[in-house]
Amino acid sequence: MIGVFDSGVGGLTVVREIFKKLPDYKIIYFGDTARTPYGTKSKETIIKYAREDAKFLLDHGAKIIVIACNTASAVAADILRKESGVPVFEVIMPAVRAALSATKKGKIGVIGTRATVSSGVYETMIKKDNQGIQVISQPCPLLVPLVEEAWLNQPETKKIVRKYLQPLKNQQIDTLILGCTHYPVLKNIIKSRIGKKVVLVDSAEEVVRELKEFLAKNSGVEKSLGKDGSHKFYVSDLTPQVPKIAEKLLGRVVKMEKVEVG
Ligand code: DGL
Repeated sequence: MIGVFDSGVGGLTVVREIFKKLPDYKIIYFGDTARTPYGTKSKETIIKYAREDAKFLLDHGAKIIVIACNTASAVAADILRKESGVPVFEVIMPAVRAALSATKKGKIGVIGTRATVSSGVYETMIKKDNQGIQVISQPCPLLVPLVEEAWLNQPETKKIVRKYLQPLKNQQIDTLILGCTHYPVLKNIIKSRIGKKVVLVDSAEEVVRELKEFLAKNSGVEKSLGKDGSHKFYVSDLTPQVPKIAEKLLGRVVKMEKVEVG
């Protein structure tokens, strides 16, 4: 099974990509809806939650872990790699690699939650071997709740997106990393506000592209995953809103079960 976890339902944008690119694989998803959002929490808390989320997936037979959450990827990926004993994929590095190959002017914008932006992880990883690249980061804390309320096309959403993107526009970025699970569903608005020429890097697309390449090269792991197309979705709190948001993000209705984790 491919195990995917997120702070909530936003990580279903990664599952949507797995459905597209690796449709037959068994998937187990855990969304920590009882403790969401992670983006406003401390590093210590996010690490604790990420460990518990990964344990749940491993206990249920996951042979690969995909951290769909940018916030958890930013602060807990290295720890989970050391501790979990299975390949761990996270969403930061695939997006960094895609942005580095897309940028022509060496001006990359990053948008994400407060925790992701203040971790500085995108900037650090982009600049590691590329000191000359300019990274302009912008936390966009209002976007997650707007997506969760399904305010995808409201004028207020467009205004807020415009306001958040203005500093990046002023700096004339040519590449923008969508560094949060929820942002791919706002891609069209973001595109029209930042400008059509700016390349948008969708971390969900990039991580699944790399996962697919990895599976093509690692037949032992690939075989261990199982390919009967079954999918299981678990959440730590099941409010009436959860399946509604899930349907929006995933483009289909799925059965969700509530579990205690941690
Ligand atoms: N999943 C989070 C992320 O990608 C967004 C929601 C949250 O803050 O928990 O950063």
